[in-house]
Amino acid sequence: MPMDPVKRNIYVYKKILQREDKESLLQQQARAIWLTGLSGSGKSTIAASMERALSKRNFLTQVLDGDNIRAGINNNLGFSDEDRTENIRRIAEINKLFVNCGIITINSFISPTKNIRDMARKIIGEDNFIEVYVNAPIEVCEQRDTKGLYKRARRGEIQNFTGIDAPFDPPENPDIELKTNIESIEESIEKTLRIILPEITYVREDEY
Ligand code: ADX
Repeated sequence: MPMDPVKRNIYVYKKILQREDKESLLQQQARAIWLTGLSGSGKSTIAASMERALSKRNFLTQVLDGDNIRAGINNNLGFSDEDRTENIRRIAEINKLFVNCGIITINSFISPTKNIRDMARKIIGEDNFIEVYVNAPIEVCEQRDTKGLYKRARRGEIQNFTGIDAPFDPPENPDIELKTNIESIEESIEKTLRIILPEITYVREDEY
């Protein structure tokens, strides 16, 4: 009778499945959709609608959102330049894991500077990264003030608040720009789908 391979110190090397295998299983091509914009610009709303629109079309997605991530894995980080950079660095690494698993990530983070967004793009990989600028003027965001944070920042109760006493550099050349104070959510989603569907739709290998 053959001996147990482990007893003979033989380890059968099983190669782990690759991204292509997962994409084939899920019948989709993974991407990181990166929503950047001011607090109150509509990123979370767009992310949630986008996830529903994609799910309806049989795509598997994962939403990653500033408030949730900062309540969990990044709960030791604040809003200094250094902490925001570390926040986005970890999130970008998390994106890499999801994308390697064939999953479409939808990110909702202020990610206020070009440096920070470039770092995310570099970690996740240029070809995987779709930058979406969720653009609403600061006056509109401040007026919406969904979380009451602008008011508190104006009163001096919150420091380093993006758009008040911390910078937001608008992306220079985003793949998609959504003007949430002018367009309806439906229009924004339709516009985004037009760009991303060709990227995430699975292409069978023999069609290459
Ligand atoms: S980022 O700048 O590091 O990308 P992130 O998107 O994770 O920010 O978190 C932003 C959320 O944190 C905002 O939507 C808001 O609810 C909350 N917040 C608390 N303090 C601040 C601050 N000083 N500046 C911006 N957002 C803040």
